Amino acid sequence: MVQGYHPNSMKLGSFKGGYVGKRHTWIRKHFSSIVFTVALIGFLFLLDSLMSCIFEPSVVQSNSMHKKLSSDMIVPLKFGERGGKSAVQMYDRFASMASSALVELKQDESKFWKESYRQASVWIPCADRKESTSSGTGKLQSNTGYILVSANGGLNQQRVAVCNAVAVASLLNATLVIPRFLFSNVWKDPSQFGDIYQEDYFMKTLKDEVNIVKDLPPHLRSLDFKEIDSLITDADISKEATPTEYIEKVLPLLSKNGVVHFLGYGNRLGFDPLPSELQRLRCKCNYHALKFVPKIQETGSLLIRRIRKYDGPRNKLDKQLLGNFITGSRLKGPVMDREPLKYIALHLRFEVDMVAYSLCEFGGGQVEKTELQAYREVHFPLLVQRLKRSKAVSAEELRRSGRCPLTPEEAALVLAALGFTSETYIYLAGSQIYGGKSRMQPLTNLYPHVITKEDLLSPTELAPFKNFSSQLAALDFIACATANVFAITDSGSQLSSLVSGFRTYYGGAHAPTLRPSKKRLAEIMSKNQTINWNDFESRVSKMISGAQIVRLRGWGRSIYRQPRCPECMCMFR
Ligand SMILES: *[C@@H]1O[C@H](CO)[C@@H](O)[C@H](O)[C@H]1NC(C)=O
Ligand SMILES: *[C@@H]1O[C@H](CO)[C@@H](O)[C@H](O)[C@H]1NC(C)=O
Ligand SMILES: *[C@@H]1O[C@H](CO)[C@@H](O)[C@H](O)[C@H]1NC(C)=O
Repeated sequence: MVQGYHPNSMKLGSFKGGYVGKRHTWIRKHFSSIVFTVALIGFLFLLDSLMSCIFEPSVVQSNSMHKKLSSDMIVPLKFGERGGKSAVQMYDRFASMASSALVELKQDESKFWKESYRQASVWIPCADRKESTSSGTGKLQSNTGYILVSANGGLNQQRVAVCNAVAVASLLNATLVIPRFLFSNVWKDPSQFGDIYQEDYFMKTLKDEVNIVKDLPPHLRSLDFKEIDSLITDADISKEATPTEYIEKVLPLLSKNGVVHFLGYGNRLGFDPLPSELQRLRCKCNYHALKFVPKIQETGSLLIRRIRKYDGPRNKLDKQLLGNFITGSRLKGPVMDREPLKYIALHLRFEVDMVAYSLCEFGGGQVEKTELQAYREVHFPLLVQRLKRSKAVSAEELRRSGRCPLTPEEAALVLAALGFTSETYIYLAGSQIYGGKSRMQPLTNLYPHVITKEDLLSPTELAPFKNFSSQLAALDFIACATANVFAITDSGSQLSSLVSGFRTYYGGAHAPTLRPSKKRLAEIMSKNQTINWNDFESRVSKMISGAQIVRLRGWGRSIYRQPRCPECMCMFR
C-alpha cells in the first residue's frame, strides 16, 4: 500500500509545514481528491486482503480460490472492431492445425453437445419432496429467536449464504429474517434480496420447514447487537462450520438475546456431516425457492430468445429460471418453424486480477510481465512482499501444477478439439478479459460468433440493470444455465459452480458442462511442438468426458455444485 501510494503521502506530508491559513484553503480546494484518495486506498486494501485471504490458505486448492472476486462483475466488452494490437498467441502450431481441422468439420457433429454418460438421466430433482415424518410441524412452533443475515459478495456468493442461513435457521429452530445483502466496494451494487429474488415465493416455498419473516419485530429493531454480543462475524465461526459449532456458539446467544446477526455471512456451513433433512432443505432453497424477479426473468428470456432465434421453452431449466416469460408466444412468425439455435456459454475466468495473482506467464513477453508486476504492486502489495521473502516458483512449475487460469486461446483450442464447428455461437459470460481484443483474437479467429449480452440487448433494454452488477450477473446466470453446452475454465469460480449444479439438477442429462482440468491440459499443451492434431483431439476429449462421469457427490463436496446425492435428487428407474 505504502509503496504504491508513496508519492501521495509525500505530498500530504510535505504540506504539513505550510501556513495554517493556506492549509485550510488547500484542504477545501482538494477536499474531494483527498476523499477520493482515501477511498481508493481503502478499496485497494480491501481488494488485496480479499485476494490474500482467498488465495492464502492453499494456492493449490483451486476450489476455494477467488470466490469473492470479480467473477460477478460485468463490464461490457466489444470484439467487433478489428485492428489495433495484434493477437497474443502461445500456440501458433496448434492454432493453424485447429483452423484447418475446423474447415474439414461438418455441421454440428460434435458429440459433446450431449452428455457423455446416459446414466445422468437416472437422477431427477426431488429436493422439494414432502418428508413423511411429522417432525416439521413441531419444529415450527418452538421459536428460539430471530436470525438476521447480511450476506457478503456478489450474486452467487449471496445465493450460497442465503441457503446456508435457511439451514442454520432450521437447525436452531429460529425464525429467519429475509437476508440482507451487504453493499461492497467491489460490486457497488445496492440491490437487496427483493430486487433479485421473489420474496413471497421464497417464503411460501419454505413455509413448512422454516419460519421466515420480512423484518424483525419492532422491539428487536433498535437493539445494539454488538453491545449485547449478538453480532457474529466471519471471525467468530469457522469456514464450513459444523452444526455442533452453531449449537455451541450461536444457540446460547440466540436464547439469551432472542436475536443474532450474522454480519458478512458467506461460506460458513460445511457439507458433511450434516443431518440429511438440513442438506435437503439447503437444496430445496437453492433449486426451488430462489426465483428471479419478473424484471430479470423478462429480460433474461428476451436475451435467450435472441440467442436461440426461437420463442418458447426448451426444457425444465427454462421454465425454472424464466417462469412464464418463456412460454406463450410460440406461434409468432415463420422463424419459429425451425429448431432453436444451439449455443455454448463460455465462462472465461481471465480477468486481470486473476491473471496477475496467478504469477503465471501467458505468452505476452516482457510487456505482459511488466504490466502484471505493476498491477500486483498497486493491488496486491501483500503478495509482492511475500514474494520477496520466499523462494520463487517458476512460471513453468506453476503451469505444470495446474495453477494457471486458462487463456481464451486455450479455451478455443479445447472447443476445436471437441469438434465444435467454427459456426458455433459462443455466449461469453462475465467480465473484462485481460488484454481485451488481442487476447480474444485467437478465440474469435476460430469462433467468429462470440456474443455477449451487450450485443444482444439494446442499451435501452440494459439500462435498468446498468448500475446493478448482481442483476447483470443474474442475466449471465440465466444465459449460462440454459445454454446447450456450458464451458467453464475454472471450477473454483462461484458462477461456474452454481450454474453447473443447476444444470445437473434440472438438465435431465441434456445440459452438459465442459470442465477442463488445468493440470491435465497443461500436460497436453506441453507437447505443443510435437503432438499431432488427432492425438490432441483424443486426449482433450478423454479429459472432458472423464470429468462428466456420473457419480455421487463426494464427502464434503458442495451440494450447490454437485447435487447428485440422495438428499437432493432421486434415482429414477
Ligand atoms: C428444535 O425442535 C425440535 C423439535 O421440536 C427439537 O427436537 C430440537 O431439539 C430443537 N433444536 C433446538 C436447537 O432447539
Ligand atoms: C447509474 O448511476 C449513475 C452514476 O452514479 C447515474 O448518473 C445514473 O442515473 C444511474 N442510472 C440508473 C439507470 O439508475
Ligand atoms: C510448448 O512446447 C515447448 C516445447 O516442447 C515447451 O517448452 C513449452 O513449455 C510449451 N508451451 C506451453 C505453454 O506448454
